[in-house]
Amino acid sequence: MSVIEAPTTSTIHSGAAHAERVTTTKLRAMKGRGEKITMVTVYDYSTARIVDAAGMDAILVGDSLGQVMLGYDSTVPVTMDDMIHHTKAVVRGAQRALVIGDMPFLSYNISPEEALRNAGRFMQEAGARAVKLEGAAVAPTVERMVAAGIPVMGHLGLTPQSINVFGRHRVQGKTREAAVRILEDAIRLEEAGAFALVLETVPTPLAALISRKISIPTIGIGAGAGCDGQVQVLHDLLGWNIGYTPKHARKYADAANTFAAAFEEYIEDVRAGRFPTDDNSFPMDEELLEGLDA
Ligand code: KIV
Repeated sequence: MSVIEAPTTSTIHSGAAHAERVTTTKLRAMKGRGEKITMVTVYDYSTARIVDAAGMDAILVGDSLGQVMLGYDSTVPVTMDDMIHHTKAVVRGAQRALVIGDMPFLSYNISPEEALRNAGRFMQEAGARAVKLEGAAVAPTVERMVAAGIPVMGHLGLTPQSINVFGRHRVQGKTREAAVRILEDAIRLEEAGAFALVLETVPTPLAALISRKISIPTIGIGAGAGCDGQVQVLHDLLGWNIGYTPKHARKYADAANTFAAAFEEYIEDVRAGRFPTDDNSFPMDEELLEGLDA
């Protein structure tokens, strides 16, 4: 985009500009009608505008930004300030999609008061319309947040903030005992007032069963087609990861290679004097410069 052109909603096609905002109630109604819910992670303003205009129902400002935006090897180092910074940018770019802020490691499990204060920051400071947190142990905290007017999305199965407990990324709920635990946790979160539930890396039949058993929408990632919706990490979906696409993802673009080719072409053009041309430059009456480089 040119520096002298202000961004407008028409610089990208935007059917979303005047569309009605997606709400938590709408997502629930979609489940009722059997309409699949679409969600993707986004971490910045420009991508939020494109995703929103494409008609995505929900945007998760995921703490996966720790890996894909900040270069950490897990979500554990991500702070509240990191999350607020990125959520603010996404909120500025999303007019229609429901923006959900992902509460980072230890921001909601030390005390219910601190959890409420941090969730409040997502809503008041960053402008998110809901928050997400991992696990079912925090069900009483979820209840307090909902009572305070904060919509909460739960997250069960492979909960990445517990990677140091799991040891590695592996499918959760594969034994009957583990499956029952996840089902019970899902019911617990529904009873606590969660408006939806992410199910990550759980077997397809278990996710489908949970989706039938609870009335709130399930949003799967590596949890099969029986969920009420799907979420993907932006970089997996766009092929923006260098060399690695997880099994649960499908590459809908080849961003890493497309970007690499563009950068190489730019470098070559600059070095060869092919960029910039007059088309990219600003003329003036050169007489005005007369005598200045003497
Ligand atoms: O942070 C994230 O990207 C997530 C998704 C995996 C659901 O929590």
